[in-house]
Amino acid sequence: MKVLVNDEILDRNQAKVDIEDRGYQFGDGVYEVINLYNGVPFTLKEHISRLYRSANEIGMKIYVEPEQLCKRLLDLINVNNMKDGGLYLQITRGVSHRAHQYEDSIKPRLVAYPLPYKSVQTAQSAGVEAITADDLRWLRCDIKSLNLLYNIMVKQKAHEAGAFEAILIRDGVVTEGSSSNIFIVKGGILFTHPATNKILNGITRTKLLEILDKHGWQYKTEPFTKEALMEADEVFLTSTTSEVMPITNIDGVTFSHGKPGPYTQKFQDAFRNVVNSEVGSAKKA
Ligand SMILES: Cc1ncc(COP(=O)(O)O)c(C=O)c1O
Repeated sequence: MKVLVNDEILDRNQAKVDIEDRGYQFGDGVYEVINLYNGVPFTLKEHISRLYRSANEIGMKIYVEPEQLCKRLLDLINVNNMKDGGLYLQITRGVSHRAHQYEDSIKPRLVAYPLPYKSVQTAQSAGVEAITADDLRWLRCDIKSLNLLYNIMVKQKAHEAGAFEAILIRDGVVTEGSSSNIFIVKGGILFTHPATNKILNGITRTKLLEILDKHGWQYKTEPFTKEALMEADEVFLTSTTSEVMPITNIDGVTFSHGKPGPYTQKFQDAFRNVVNSEVGSAKKA
């Protein structure tokens, strides 16, 4: 496997991390995960623009233009002859003697490499289980930071309970999943938390909302409570790797008769059509 380190493509075993990299020591950095369909990185521009936004929010300057970075990522896909799977991309603040504060001269370090393909089709047709957990994260969840400690803790809790995701609740309100955005359908209307500092504004979430706009399907980006979640007709999550994923059981309570509901299926199909058409046009270009 070949990996991208700053502006060089290297063999996996040539890529080394400095023990004083602030990403390694503090989780001081930002990242993205991008899905590939038939060699095409889906919503690449959107992911790259969120990466630059996250970096900017933590006061980190990325010393390469977004277009140049996209080009390097395409080279990485080509050199690895990738078809399906994903790309992991992270930028840390750089290397310095260990101290919380840093100097302006510090140079960010970039690493990107292929992620293996993992099929989500079976889960998408059957639905997955979730648990609920308190949202005890900081109040800048809009930054896609390498600091994922609480997300890891609740995802592990879900995993140990045999569930796929942990749905987070802050002050009685459903914010998002440990690595996904959460949607409910009630009385034919879709609800999801607004894109504030309390959630990561998912690229899949944004794409789905654009699709809904195009079809004229109703939705509300409004906070909803845990009670509303538990009384919903349908629940699903979105993320880069899961796309539109039905949730059919939460904390042992069954939803939409234990299978993906009609709205969820409609959104899954609409999302898949957009993926196919965008990937198709990128292939022709
Ligand atoms: C906390 C959190 N929320 C939402 C998402 C979904 O974002 P996206 O659709 O861009 O993958 C993720 C993805 O990893 C996440 O970590």
